[in-house]
Amino acid sequence: MRTHRPGLLGETEVGTEVVLCGWVAALRDQGGVVFLDLRDATGIVQVVADPAGVEGGDVHEVRREWVLRVTGELRRRPPGTENPALGTGTVEVAARRLEVLNRAEPPPMRLDDRGGEVDEVLRLRHRYLDLRRPSMQANLRLRARVNAALRASMAAQGFVEVETPMLVASTPEGARDFVVPSRLHPGRFYALPQSPQLFKQLLMVGGVDRYFQIARCLRDEDLRADRQFEFMQYDAEMSFADEEDVIGVVTEAVAAAVEAATGRRPDPPDRLTWTEAMDRYGTDKPDLRFGMPIVDVTAVFAGTGFRAVQAEAVRALVVPGGATMGRAARDRLVERARERGAPGLLTYRVAGGDVEGPGAQHLSAAERSGLLGATGAGDGDLVLVVAADPRTAAGALGVLRNDLGRPPVSEGGVRLAWVTEFPLFEAVDEQGRPVPAHHPFTAPHPDDLDLLRSGRPEELLRVRSRAYDLVCNGWELGSGSVRIHDAAVQALVFERLGIGPEAAETRFGFLLEAFRYGAPPHAGFAFGIDRLVAILAGEENIREVIAFPKTASGTDPLTGAPTPLPAQHLQELGLALRVRPA
Ligand code: AMO
Repeated sequence: MRTHRPGLLGETEVGTEVVLCGWVAALRDQGGVVFLDLRDATGIVQVVADPAGVEGGDVHEVRREWVLRVTGELRRRPPGTENPALGTGTVEVAARRLEVLNRAEPPPMRLDDRGGEVDEVLRLRHRYLDLRRPSMQANLRLRARVNAALRASMAAQGFVEVETPMLVASTPEGARDFVVPSRLHPGRFYALPQSPQLFKQLLMVGGVDRYFQIARCLRDEDLRADRQFEFMQYDAEMSFADEEDVIGVVTEAVAAAVEAATGRRPDPPDRLTWTEAMDRYGTDKPDLRFGMPIVDVTAVFAGTGFRAVQAEAVRALVVPGGATMGRAARDRLVERARERGAPGLLTYRVAGGDVEGPGAQHLSAAERSGLLGATGAGDGDLVLVVAADPRTAAGALGVLRNDLGRPPVSEGGVRLAWVTEFPLFEAVDEQGRPVPAHHPFTAPHPDDLDLLRSGRPEELLRVRSRAYDLVCNGWELGSGSVRIHDAAVQALVFERLGIGPEAAETRFGFLLEAFRYGAPPHAGFAFGIDRLVAILAGEENIREVIAFPKTASGTDPLTGAPTPLPAQHLQELGLALRVRPA
């Protein structure tokens, strides 16, 4: 139907007769001559249609988003009429023939890239139109390149792509399951997989050795900018492998994906332990596109007489050039630190080689110069200080660090970091039971098994795990771990988590049984493809890189999902509703 594509035309085709197909992106009817922008997936070219010289339909009838086939000669635009904003801005098509392939109703929203400002529900209601926008086209194509690069990299690294089922028993990722009622087994339900976790471990027992999948995962959790109900994971598992093997494979795959998307391989990822990340950045997902590390200044105030800095830990953060910040802005920082659990926040401006600000007069000369020496702060900077327990102090400053230093998602390139040695448990609940930081198959650090055996809450919180995360520009991209393959250690972890032998048997019996038949030591990882693509596309919300996402409230305005079920269907499934569908 066509000889050329609108967005790919340039000076080299000048003088050629072209046949193009596409949509009318814009129209300027100047009475006589009509200018129209013809768009397809490759981009836009300007078509000039002089009704006097055009065969086919009536040029003046044409409307936006009509589907046309245009035949004409490509020519250079007259001097002074070039459009540098357009890739094809130096050329135009002088139409000789114009066929209307289809008419269109007026679109309910703008379809140029200012369409991003359109109401989200309207965009998703007409997603097929929204997808015509160049940015959505670019994002979907970028996503396809990332997927292709991941597949190629994993194949090259000897991984086998295996599909795991969608109708499963519950998987242990800690979110709520989406469930599917069984017609053949009334009263029973399948769960949709939160991840392929259990199956990929079974594949290791099954001798697959190196498994990989681009897997759809479903979790019924509150939606956020980086969360959807259904999302895609790059998912991998390896036998006879430890954390370094997994980190090596995943780093290579991510580098290949980034290169496919941007043309450049990212710098090698930074490496830090969870404790280092928490101490230096106050978070387990530090954004390393910028500096501003948190500094331990406890020693500076060891003998202080100033109550505000008498604490187990004193931490400081330098805001370069922050001394110009006004009183109101500094008060907002104090408030923000308090919201994050800090008892207070001291804000010191640096001027004339000394610190000034609230309470500075209570600091000794040695403390003031010690603070500057330890932090390296200079004139014009602002120094923020929190005194509390170490985690609270660093946590509050970590939030301020992000607030004050973090570049927009589209700036600063792709900065990866591996965070290793996560704690096995992230907290201890009211009943003294530890809350797992990852799923219950994560291996504890071998040096910390005695702490695990002790069972005392304060010792349990010190147990490190063999879990690791990949962080990209401050987003948690993915996580994984070396798994437990020793039945006794698994039983101990279940016991600590309050999963008794019976409950373990009910929930994971099939896996435990499989492990009794010679499970190889194994380790794995999964990262969110939506998140990686969003970062590479410079988008704040993963919705922008998903063809048909859900709204923030979990609905699909296009298809109306979720919808009520007809009574007969419910009956067939053996279900009776206790609520009326809203
Ligand atoms: P985890 O639960 O950390 O680990 O998930 C891995 C990654 O999946 C992405 N992700 C999501 N993306 C979009 N929307 C969501 N609702 C969502 N939930 C998670 C994140 C996250 O880092 N089976 C383990 C991995 C392993 O141990 O091998 C797992 O699923 O980017």
